[in-house]
Amino acid sequence: MDPQRLKDNFALVAAHGIDVAEYFYADLFERNPSYRSLFPASMARQQQVLLEALAQIVSLVDDPERLVPYVQGLGRSHAGFGVTPQHYPEVGASLVATLKYFSGDAWTAELEKDWVEAYGVVADVMIKAADEK
Ligand code: HEM
Repeated sequence: MDPQRLKDNFALVAAHGIDVAEYFYADLFERNPSYRSLFPASMARQQQVLLEALAQIVSLVDDPERLVPYVQGLGRSHAGFGVTPQHYPEVGASLVATLKYFSGDAWTAELEKDWVEAYGVVADVMIKAADEK
């Protein structure tokens, strides 16, 4: 995985602002209508916190000593939201679809591989931390 490539791609995508989070949740709920009820009626705050968390994760992608505890905390809080390990691949699929959409012509097979790998690591750490709660 190339951390700088990931950071550059996220900067390109994040320049689209809140549209990114809107697209992500629309895609997630279209593919998985049952997930909607896990979230509050108003998604405005959730859209904001998702973007902030993604930005934080991407900024720490080459700093595992800080990234791991942050992601473990997220994993523990998610257990309390009724999130189970089965949800993670679906969220990953919508995340990658969203990144691809906003990257346009800049999207490459390498980027897809990097994101799938990075999301897989984050999901594993979140799931393990939730389990140890
Ligand atoms: C990379 C993976 C993920 C990231 C970065 C992320 C980020 C966040 C953040 C920052 C929050 C705000 C609360 C907190 O800080 O804990 C949150 C809440 C939440 N997330 Fe995630 N999340 C991820 C994966 C998932 C998955 C797999 C699901 C399953 C559908 C999910 C569903 C939820 C729900 C239901 C809430 C609570 C909404 C509420 O009641 O306010 N998240 N997420």
